[in-house]
Amino acid sequence: MTGKIALVTGGTRGIGRAIAERLLRDGANVWLSGRAADTVSATVEALAAAHGDDRVGGSAGSVARREHVQDMVDRCVARFGKLDIAVANAGIESGAHFLEIEDDDWDEVIATNLKGVFLTTQIAAREMTSSGGRIVVISSTNAFFMESHIASYNASKAGCVALMRTAALELARYGITVNAVGPGLVRTEMTEGLVRDAEHGPRYLEGIPAGRFGTPEDVAAAVAYLASDDAGWVTGHHLIVDGGQTIGVELPLDATSRQT
Ligand SMILES: NC(=O)c1ccc[n+]([C@@H]2O[C@H](COP(=O)([O-])OP(=O)(O)OC[C@H]3O[C@@H](n4cnc5c(N)ncnc54)[C@H](OP(=O)(O)O)[C@@H]3O)[C@@H](O)[C@H]2O)c1
Repeated sequence: MTGKIALVTGGTRGIGRAIAERLLRDGANVWLSGRAADTVSATVEALAAAHGDDRVGGSAGSVARREHVQDMVDRCVARFGKLDIAVANAGIESGAHFLEIEDDDWDEVIATNLKGVFLTTQIAAREMTSSGGRIVVISSTNAFFMESHIASYNASKAGCVALMRTAALELARYGITVNAVGPGLVRTEMTEGLVRDAEHGPRYLEGIPAGRFGTPEDVAAAVAYLASDDAGWVTGHHLIVDGGQTIGVELPLDATSRQT
């Protein structure tokens, strides 16, 4: 990754921060974003202290707004000279029973998770048309493995995969690959409530064959591969990182034995 320039949206905590740290460790310079300006500054400061002042920058704003995404890409290119890798990671979740979903909540999730990914992908790709690049979308197993009470989230993530695959088709001729990483349940601020829930946390864990929740670093490792030179002929792929949760259902051996 040495000499590569990467953009990570939602890079101030959780999965996005782990991706920023991984790409920095692998040698890339990183521009990150988030809505909260103080958190962006604090994250940039912390990562710069660990990896070098000249290797990290950031800007605050919502990925749902074209002006912010354009400004973020412009500032990244002004600071580092180019853009090689864009990771569309920023995302939110809003829970409600299907019958109770309000328009504002629906709109905010779709604006962040789907329009935000569209804007990040389009604006980053425009910057990459002459020299090629790597775009990685953070989708979710929720793109195809539905969980109740988060219909807007499920729909946004399924949309992300369709968007990613269409962009991959149209951008391949420019040397731009577009892929997605679909995590299962990863311990972050977004999921801490469920993980810590005395009843539902352990029950959820039973459905993960690998026997543990994911870590942000598990996701960052998959992103690092898709963002690398090694993945040059991989495009339009949805790489699932879920400890086996969505493979299928385990049955007890005695329930599968041949009956005589
Ligand atoms: N955790 C999981 O189990 C899991 C599983 C599958 C997929 N994912 C996906 O992975 C991504 C990261 O999730 P996470 O668990 O790391 O979440 P998180 O801990 O809540 O972090 C979300 C990050 O996105 C930023 N963000 C949120 N809305 C934004 C917006 N409109 N514009 C710019 N930045 C915004 C947040 O900063 P601000 O709040 O300051 O804006 C923060 O940096 C999301 O797309 C999520 O859907 C997570």
